Amino acid sequence: IKSRRIMPYKVILSISINHHVYCALVDINDYFPAYRHILKGFNMHSPTILVTGGAGYIGSHTCIELLNAGFYVLVIDNLQNSSEESLKRVADITGKSVTFIKGDVRDKELMKEIFSENKIAATIHFAGLKAVGESCAMPLEYYDNNINSTLVLCQAMEKAGSKNLVFSSSATVYGDPETLPLTENMPLSATNPYGRSKLIIEEMLRDLPESDKLKKTDNPWSVALLRYFNPVGAHESGSIGEDPSDIPNNLMPFITQTAVGRRTELSIFGSDYDTVDGTGVRDYIHVVDLARGHLKAVQKLLSKESIEGVQAYNLGTGNGISVLEMVKAFAEVNNVKVPYKLVERRPGDVAACYADATRAKMELDWEAGMSLDDMVRDSWNWQ
Ligand code: NAD
Ligand code: WQD
Repeated sequence: IKSRRIMPYKVILSISINHHVYCALVDINDYFPAYRHILKGFNMHSPTILVTGGAGYIGSHTCIELLNAGFYVLVIDNLQNSSEESLKRVADITGKSVTFIKGDVRDKELMKEIFSENKIAATIHFAGLKAVGESCAMPLEYYDNNINSTLVLCQAMEKAGSKNLVFSSSATVYGDPETLPLTENMPLSATNPYGRSKLIIEEMLRDLPESDKLKKTDNPWSVALLRYFNPVGAHESGSIGEDPSDIPNNLMPFITQTAVGRRTELSIFGSDYDTVDGTGVRDYIHVVDLARGHLKAVQKLLSKESIEGVQAYNLGTGNGISVLEMVKAFAEVNNVKVPYKLVERRPGDVAACYADATRAKMELDWEAGMSLDDMVRDSWNWQ
């Protein structure tokens, strides 16, 4: 028995004694391999979505949306930046459990096994490394993890004929934007190894439908590249969220840690940008809205009007918020103090970046619904 082979099936066992019927809902795993195959034959469960990196920040919120929509969720995560606790909390929130496999997406044998033992309707690929500064210090780790994991995953998907993919891309692929708001067909570039890894993966994925054309396959790739802007916030329960162990790189965790007293003050990087108040402007998006965007993308991939080949979608609100506006909203809504000082610009930062998310609205029927107040309230609630 291999302990990692936990299969996502449940069965009702019933027994009748003296005209009383006793029932139990039992998880089927490798202790009951025979049942597993019988159930597979009956196709008794809803579509299974494989979520790589599902124990992480955006992945765990997406698991909630998938479970609530009735999907079966299979997570693979090596837990290098998360813990299994987040998935237990996902189960508490939804009343439904996720099947968890602890493993690395770069493990070819494991990925082959996952795809041969499960009928995966679609895969969401979150797993990867994401810190810009760290990627400059250790580019090879970033190329290895981000690119190799996608390569191994796509090979396993192709072999299994399971070719519906949602990929976690980033607004960072737009580099230093020339015009705003950003639409999906604007020029792409990278300013650091993290961004370059996302760009390379996007390009790699664009080659797949081309190969389908040559092969004249009747089971082509359908890929949604979701370009996230600046995810913030947490589930309203306050039980899952982002918890950086080091000094935070991003604005929101720095604000919450300052408000709670773990940091003495926030440094605001730059006050002389050509923006509303001189501080940097970004398109902050509530992580629950982002998670719902993934659900919509999966539903699109599984619908009759699926994506033909590869399509990129901006997931943002379309609203630019400055650092000072964010700090003020946080302090007011939560009635807390956020001491700050204005300092030099951070190297590599752009003045402003925000999305035109019209394509996601038109094609995925998705738009961000949560407000700035929701973002700052839920971030604080989680902290
Ligand atoms: P996260 O670190 O919280 O989640 C990533 C998860 O992947 C973690 O649980 C980690 O343990 C796991 N993981 C990493 N490498 C793995 C591997 N090789 N095999 C298996 N598991 C692995 O990060 P997140 O914020 O949830 O980001 C998810 C994805 O979204 C990433 O690809 C990231 O680049 C992308 N993204 C994030 C942001 C952001 O600001 N958070 C913005 C744009 C894009
Ligand atoms: C936001 C604004 C800072 C911290 C990064 C990645 C990007 C994406 C999201 C993954 C800027 C200012 C910040 C602080 C500050 N991640 N700031 N003091 O730089 O837009 O994007 O995260 O794909 O790839 O580059 O986000 O949260 O770091 O900064 O003044 O202590 O807050 O200057 O204007 P950024 P951020």
